[in-house]
Amino acid sequence: MNSERQYGIGDASFQAAGGQDGIFVLVNNFFDRMGSDERFATIWNMHPDDKAISRDKLARFLCGWLGGPKLYSEKYGAIGIPRVHAHLAIATPERDQWLTCMSESVNEQPFAPEFKVYLMEQLFVPAEAVRRRCSAQESIV
Ligand code: HEM
Repeated sequence: MNSERQYGIGDASFQAAGGQDGIFVLVNNFFDRMGSDERFATIWNMHPDDKAISRDKLARFLCGWLGGPKLYSEKYGAIGIPRVHAHLAIATPERDQWLTCMSESVNEQPFAPEFKVYLMEQLFVPAEAVRRRCSAQESIV
């Protein structure tokens, strides 16, 4: 049985998310939801028109971030999450749109309930780092 502490070890989180297939299903659900629900219109409209690339990038990133294969860097190179968002207007409402959209998608996946909680707690960390980076950017302008 997985306890929360084990999820961060090795590829335990990647496996708990259903591996590469499970993560791609999650990310497709996330973008389908973002594009079809007015509550997420602001962040949907921030993305480039070609959402297929956005889906591929986020899914590949999450595979490596959860301890699985480094699929993002294999295809796209190195990444810093706050840096790639620095040009965007992401404050608390936009951060929360992203987290709410992701949380609703996570809840539809066949993941263990304790992994769903753990995953959203972990995702808050980079989401908040993005918000901080974007607000620092605004104060420079
Ligand atoms: C805080 C709320 C967030 C918002 C509103 C947001 C929104 C966006 C947008 C609009 C883009 C496209 C940027 C562009 O191409 O111009 C993007 C890219 C991306 N985001 Fe986020 N994001 C958020 C948080 C996150 C988090 C927490 C992660 C990872 C855990 C993440 C991972 C990525 C990745 C991997 C890309 C692709 C970067 C690239 O290669 O160009 N984002 N995000």
